[in-house]
Amino acid sequence: MCGIVGYLGSKNAAGIIVDGLAKLEYRGYDSAGIAVNTGTELEIRKFKGRLAVLADDLEKNNIIGNVGIGHTRWATHGEPSDVNSHPHFNKDKTLAVVHNGIIENYLELREQLESEGIEFKSKTDTEVVAHLLDKYYEGNLLDAVYKTIGDLKGAYALGIVSAEHNDELIAVRKDSPLIAGVGEGEAFIASDIPALLKYTRDVIYLDNDEVVHIKGGNLKVYDSQRNPVDKKINHVDWDVEAAEKGGYSCFMEKEIFEQPEGIKSTLERRLNEEGRIVLDDINLDKEYLESVNKIYIVACGTAYNAGVLGKTAMQRMMGIPVTVDIASEFRYNENFVDDKSLVILVSQSGETADTLAVLRDSKEKGARILAVTNVVGSSIAREADDVFYTWAGPEIAVASTKAYTTQIVSLYMIALNCALEMGNIDDKYYFDMIEKMKEIPAKIQEVINNKDSIEHIADDIVKKEHAFFLGRGIDYSLAMEGSLKLKEISYIHAEAFAAGELKHGTIALIEEGTPVISIATQQSMFDKMVSNMEEVRARGAYVVAISQSHNKEVEKVSNKVIYIPDSEDLLSPIIAVVPMQLLALMVSTKRGLDVDKPRNLAKSVTVE
Ligand code: M6R
Repeated sequence: MCGIVGYLGSKNAAGIIVDGLAKLEYRGYDSAGIAVNTGTELEIRKFKGRLAVLADDLEKNNIIGNVGIGHTRWATHGEPSDVNSHPHFNKDKTLAVVHNGIIENYLELREQLESEGIEFKSKTDTEVVAHLLDKYYEGNLLDAVYKTIGDLKGAYALGIVSAEHNDELIAVRKDSPLIAGVGEGEAFIASDIPALLKYTRDVIYLDNDEVVHIKGGNLKVYDSQRNPVDKKINHVDWDVEAAEKGGYSCFMEKEIFEQPEGIKSTLERRLNEEGRIVLDDINLDKEYLESVNKIYIVACGTAYNAGVLGKTAMQRMMGIPVTVDIASEFRYNENFVDDKSLVILVSQSGETADTLAVLRDSKEKGARILAVTNVVGSSIAREADDVFYTWAGPEIAVASTKAYTTQIVSLYMIALNCALEMGNIDDKYYFDMIEKMKEIPAKIQEVINNKDSIEHIADDIVKKEHAFFLGRGIDYSLAMEGSLKLKEISYIHAEAFAAGELKHGTIALIEEGTPVISIATQQSMFDKMVSNMEEVRARGAYVVAISQSHNKEVEKVSNKVIYIPDSEDLLSPIIAVVPMQLLALMVSTKRGLDVDKPRNLAKSVTVE
């Protein structure tokens, strides 16, 4: 969850590291710190709070040196505080380490080190790494690193510098993301690509148990047995602008607005001149599909909500049962995955710990893994058998928006392709659906253009403590996404209910003025939804309806209506989610909150 950056070269390290950390703040932002070798010592500064606190301090009094490591934290062990911030160091402050992940056996290691007379300053798991390095250090930093990682259990990406080695930086990757960057006579390490884009586009994707040794201008990678590994240098052609705010108030706003382009790009990357979906690189042909006995979709958070829609589309189009599960539950439940299973993992970042664990476990059981992910070269992308990239462009805001809509489009494309292969749909249905999907970007643009109509609804909700989201069928999964968006960035308690369940208990929560966002985009369920809206309104709820523009009937049972352009039942959630994203954004902004960096959260959940 934390962000790591390291630099070794001829430039001043501190500025480059802080620049890089700024691009990684989405990974965690409760504290930040830096360690730079000044030529004579390690100078370490670290502060509770946003990166800006560290940046301000450096602006007043910079650290001069050409090698260093930095960290932006999302606390796992020990509350956010100066002392718990990274880098952590040994007793003489001659070795410093930054860490992303969890050292699972840290208590045991800490007890052992304490019994050897070491005094710990912080409550973190990471500090054991600094003391172990100290224990094993006999003049050769790489030797000490290998001995240290031999003692560690858990997930870790580490960056390590020493006071005695002014031309050396070491990094380790095990189950936590880490890349290396290569420049002219300089090298970098980082948790994610955006941190490096300003300085280099040549990156090395590290695999598990690999150690990067940067010495002078040279970068070498070794495996767990210390054998050199020949790594490919990949050129990243991302647009730097795409990773910047570009005039928007926050990344979430920018990413909501980018959805028409994002969806176009998801479609265009996979459609050929005849308008057919091309999945040549993915093994989903008739013979394979006939051998599959079960399809599982597994993901977390918003990606799970997209998976629910993927399941519905697959079942409807392919006519076979599909299950959808939350990764953190799936991995510990009896899941029946075997060598005849197709496991589809949905993950924007491609680094989510539980989703990655499901990948590894399912692979071991012989299943085929198809990843639907946004981040090229992410762990999930690299370890899956096949990858369907969503091509949404970088998503920085913690609240996922364009990842969600492009994930749904991707899953629908997979469903269409498989259904056609299996002979369950005909060419007419297939091409009709593709044509209708091509219309979605323009329809979303229409919703975005009408965003002012949502503003007064946000005004009515901003002071509320609770809000409920109702829906039936796929509108229920959309309600789950709408409530997740509102709660995570506005801190209003928001819950989604299957409208049919209301009378089984939850209607007791409705009182005068309770906001109930009621989604009624499914024609087959429309009348039933209208009845549910009537029921909550009769009990004093402030009802906001989201429905297609021809469904004027909703006006009779709601206080406010947000109309979306007409669309196929299966496709309307991709449009209807946009007003809910905008509503959450507006409420959070009106509450004066940091939209992109909601409290207690991080963009990439790389710990269990
Ligand atoms: O990177 P992933 O798609 O695997 O992330 C999964 C969830 O952590 C993520 O969707 C989360 O729920 C979002 N912050 C919600 O907006």
